[in-house]
Amino acid sequence: MRWTALRKGIGPALAATTGKGAAVPADSPLLRALDGLERLKGLDLAARPVRRAVRNLPLGRFRDVLHGLPLGHPLHPLLVQAPIGAWLSAGLLDAVPGTRRGARVLVGAGVLAAVPAALAGWVDWAEQQPRQARTGLAHALTVNVATGLYATSWLQRGRGHTARGKALGWAGLGVVAVGGLLGGHLAYRQAAGTNKTEPVPHLLADRWYDLGRVEDFPVGQAVRRELGEVPVLVVRRSGGRIHVLADRCSHQSGPLSEGKITDGCVECPWHGSVFRLADGANVRGPATAPQPSFEVDVQADGAVRVRLPEA
Ligand code: FES
Repeated sequence: MRWTALRKGIGPALAATTGKGAAVPADSPLLRALDGLERLKGLDLAARPVRRAVRNLPLGRFRDVLHGLPLGHPLHPLLVQAPIGAWLSAGLLDAVPGTRRGARVLVGAGVLAAVPAALAGWVDWAEQQPRQARTGLAHALTVNVATGLYATSWLQRGRGHTARGKALGWAGLGVVAVGGLLGGHLAYRQAAGTNKTEPVPHLLADRWYDLGRVEDFPVGQAVRRELGEVPVLVVRRSGGRIHVLADRCSHQSGPLSEGKITDGCVECPWHGSVFRLADGANVRGPATAPQPSFEVDVQADGAVRVRLPEA
C-alpha cells in the first residue's frame, strides 16, 4: 500500500527525467499564484513612492556596496544567511529544555542582522523591472512581518512569557519560509540579480568577426552592431581607438548603445550603471558584473574586426 503511494508520488517526477509516461505539471497552483503575483499591476501604486524614497536615500558610494559591486554579485543573498541561521537555530533551541537564554539571544541577533540584509534588498529592489518589483514587494513585506514577529518574540521572552515568545518565533519561521519562497522565485524564475551578459561568450565562436570600416563609426558616438545573435556597442574615441562591449547591460539588459558616453565610460540609460569602455569594468552600480569586452583589430585598409577572448 505504502509502496503504491510512493510510486504514485515519484512516478511523474521519474517520467519527467526519463521522458516516459505522464509529465510533471508545469503549472501547479503554487506556480500559478506566484506568476499571477507578478502580473498584479495594482501593486505598482504602492511600490512607486517606496522606490522613489529608496532611490533618494543619501547612501553615496555605499549604495554600490549594498548592491554587491565589490563582490561581483548581489550582497543581499549573502546577508540574509545571518538572520535565517539565527532564527532557525533559535527554533531548534526552543525545542530543547534549558536553552531559554540562548534562544532569546539568537532571536535578538536575527532581528539585528535582518536590518542590513533588508537595506541591501530594498536598494536592489528599487532598480528592478516592474514585474520583478511586484514579487519583490511581496517578498519584502513578508520578511518585514517575520522580523516584527521575532522582535515581539524577543520582548515577550524578556518579560518571562516564554511560551508566547516561542509561539511567535515559530510563526516567524513559517513567514520567513514564505518570504524565502518568494525570494527564490524572484532570483531564479524572474532572474533578478543575475548577470544578463553571462550567455554572451556561449553565443559566439572563438574567431574574428567583421564589424565594418573605421569610417562607419563617428568619433564619440555610440553605434550598435550585431555579431550573430549578440548586439554590441561600438565607440570610436577621439584618439582613434575603437572600443567594443556587449550592448545589453549586465544588470537588466538595458541597451548601452542608447546610453551616455562620457569620460571614457558609457552610462546605461535604464538604471545608470557605468561601464569603462576600455575593458567593460563596471565602475558604478546597480550592475554587479562587468560587460564583456572585445579585442579590436583595425587592418591597414580600415577594416575593423573583433573577437571575444573567452568565447
Ligand atoms: S539595465 Fe539596469 S543599469 Fe543597465
